[in-house]
Amino acid sequence: MIEVNTFFVETHTHLDLIKRDTEEVVKEAEEKGVTKMVTVGTDLSSSKIALEFTSRFRGVYAAIGFHPNEIKILDEQKLIELEKLAKNLKVVAIGEIGLDYYRNPNSAPGQLEAFKKQINLARKLNLPLIIHDREAHQDTLKILAEEAKGLKVLLHCFSGDLNLAEVGIERGYYLGIGGVVTFNNAKKLKAVVGDVPIEDLVLETDSPYLTPDPFRGKPNEPKYIPLIAEKIAEIKGISLKEVAEITSRNAQNFFGI
Ligand code: NI
Repeated sequence: MIEVNTFFVETHTHLDLIKRDTEEVVKEAEEKGVTKMVTVGTDLSSSKIALEFTSRFRGVYAAIGFHPNEIKILDEQKLIELEKLAKNLKVVAIGEIGLDYYRNPNSAPGQLEAFKKQINLARKLNLPLIIHDREAHQDTLKILAEEAKGLKVLLHCFSGDLNLAEVGIERGYYLGIGGVVTFNNAKKLKAVVGDVPIEDLVLETDSPYLTPDPFRGKPNEPKYIPLIAEKIAEIKGISLKEVAEITSRNAQNFFGI
């Protein structure tokens, strides 16, 4: 059983994409101890919805930005609108932003430009970055090294190997660990989780995607965060309470919440 004073921070959900009453989703997560969560926008309209959720629910914060799969060209007007939204006090990060060469290899030049522009916006507003990197590890690391010096960085849904994890940690980045860690075939991720200090990890579901076992195949929700924490506790041979406390502290430091 989780003690009363133990809670979890969910660092990455898309509440707008979960096809169920949001009030129920948030309430059921809270009942499992997931009392703070960051809902993530992927374009202007979903970022606006994320902000609506933050005004409806006390424990919900927003990250806003243009996902690399949602933007071919990031023009000045869209960037100005994003900046306006980002001034809301419950916006705690710019994201998810980054590179996706898996789904959209042909739009790489536009993705790179949008990525850089949004890093600059984060710098201007002094906000952390939530990074999406799918099969674009080298370019992502390069851009971050060049453009994001001094900014806080979270590598969301970390999918690299131990070497990449070490490079990220060396630079002070956090790694977001999600439901994939519960899958039987996730050897690489389990090795990363086993090796890196828990002080560098945060929890996330990326719901409605990537549902952890034993619910794999069904829609994901923030209430499943404890399943991910349990798996991390098992891999690292520490208590669930420790995982909850340290990852929550990490997330709170990162987002300032
Ligand atoms: Ni996401």
